[in-house]
Amino acid sequence: MLFKVSEKKIVYSAEPENPKEYTADFDREYSRFAAIYDKAVKLLPCWKTWITSLIPHIEGPRVLESSFGTGFLLMQYADKFETYGIDYNSTMLEVARKNLSRKGIRATLQQADVEALPFEDNYFDTIINTMAFSGYPNGQKAMAEFHRVLKVGGKVLIVDFNYPANRNIFGYLITKFMESAGDTIRDMDLIFHGFPFEFSKEEVGGMGSVHLYIGTKLGNSLDGD
Ligand SMILES: C[S@@+](CC[C@H](N)C(=O)[O-])C[C@H]1O[C@@H](n2cnc3c(N)ncnc32)[C@H](O)[C@@H]1O
Repeated sequence: MLFKVSEKKIVYSAEPENPKEYTADFDREYSRFAAIYDKAVKLLPCWKTWITSLIPHIEGPRVLESSFGTGFLLMQYADKFETYGIDYNSTMLEVARKNLSRKGIRATLQQADVEALPFEDNYFDTIINTMAFSGYPNGQKAMAEFHRVLKVGGKVLIVDFNYPANRNIFGYLITKFMESAGDTIRDMDLIFHGFPFEFSKEEVGGMGSVHLYIGTKLGNSLDGD
């Protein structure tokens, strides 16, 4: 009990008050640190383990990675599918393109906002999203777009920080640290249940602070069609 935090301490973040400013602040940082970010992801074994935990769940043929950063994860699977990617930050996009081209890996990458995905409805078999959802300015809008562009029966795979189910102090503090760095820690059960998804989750590392969420699209509307 000594190493657990009380249930009362599990308080989710409020949605950012100024979504444009929130995105612009992160975007400035990603432009400044894209090269360092790229090296850090390639070197940090735990980061690699966490984000690659979703690979066995990818189903094709058509896959979208939303917010691929500098493309480390893309390089692990993109060749096996018809792969598309979007990211908001132009510097991250540039580094990702170079990374893929150096390895001869093909994927269609473009700059876009998660809240306005440049794809038609019911288009993808799988959507991938790692360490980015808690940096989006509006969780409902991001999930609505994921839901819209997924085919019925398609899956959204999200890896991100959140509170550990057993409320252990270490996982709790890691999540709090991410929140203090600007992340919006959301009740993901609530967000998934706002859409017609069958939903499961598991903890994949970081003392229970890193979660893999899997949502399977059941229909286009909550009424079940
Ligand atoms: C922490 S990085 C994660 C990168 C990579 N997925 C990983 O796991 O290392 C977050 C990424 O989200 C992107 N991003 C932030 N806001 C976005 C938005 N509104 N639409 C699309 N991408 C966004 C950033 O540009 C950045 O590349």
